Amino acid sequence: MKKHLLVANWKLNGSIKMISQYIKCVKSCLSVLSKKNIIVIAPPTIYLSEIYKNLNNIDIFLGAQNVDINLKGAFTGETSILMLRDIGVKYVIIGHSERRLLHNETNDILVKKFDLIKKLNLIPILCIGEIEKNKNYNQTTKILIEQLNCMFQVLGKSVFRNTVIAYEPIWAIGTGLSADPKYVQFIHKFIKDYIAQHDPTSIKNIIVQYGGSINAINAEEFIKEPDIDGLLIGSASLDSKEFCKIIAIAE
Ligand code: G3H
Repeated sequence: MKKHLLVANWKLNGSIKMISQYIKCVKSCLSVLSKKNIIVIAPPTIYLSEIYKNLNNIDIFLGAQNVDINLKGAFTGETSILMLRDIGVKYVIIGHSERRLLHNETNDILVKKFDLIKKLNLIPILCIGEIEKNKNYNQTTKILIEQLNCMFQVLGKSVFRNTVIAYEPIWAIGTGLSADPKYVQFIHKFIKDYIAQHDPTSIKNIIVQYGGSINAINAEEFIKEPDIDGLLIGSASLDSKEFCKIIAIAE
């Protein structure tokens, strides 16, 4: 099987107690695997340092769930990209539907975040996806185009080179009802073709992953599709054994 990007998004979950056991489990799972896949753990910001200490230079990358648009200054409660880089973060998730819907993260803000992450040589994971009503009215591709176009319009045609796009249909997140893998394959191909229309060379360097009710039972059906380059896993990633099973399936 090809190389996949597997990201554990803990969302607002986890504890100091959970971290050492979790990392131990993932390390031991990786020790018997080929290590061809890229494994990322994205805990709440407050636990990033603790995870980094536990990783001890092994092949697991750190991901952040958000970043501020400012580098420093009077912005109480925020975390800057410089700070994330300082503690070893490599990937930054932006535009997750939970942040778009609950924290008013607009396309304008996302363009600034995307640009900042790339300028500091970290890798953005831009989440895009439609609500159920859009899907039912065949508006999915229109919505995705809007979410991609805001980046093209401001940052240029090569904006997605060396980045990650996470296709997350909102109706599949946290519902236990994942999308149909063939449907996801169709959408991922659409995303790649749309990006290639702007910059054909980007396609070699872009990862399009899927998120939405992935678990150890359904993961294989997704990763065997040619244009599903990885998975963004929420609740199933909180159980280290289940996350390890998904990693093993992607071998
Ligand atoms: O970031 C992860 C996605 O929102 C999927 O979450 O696996 O709990 O559905 P979920």
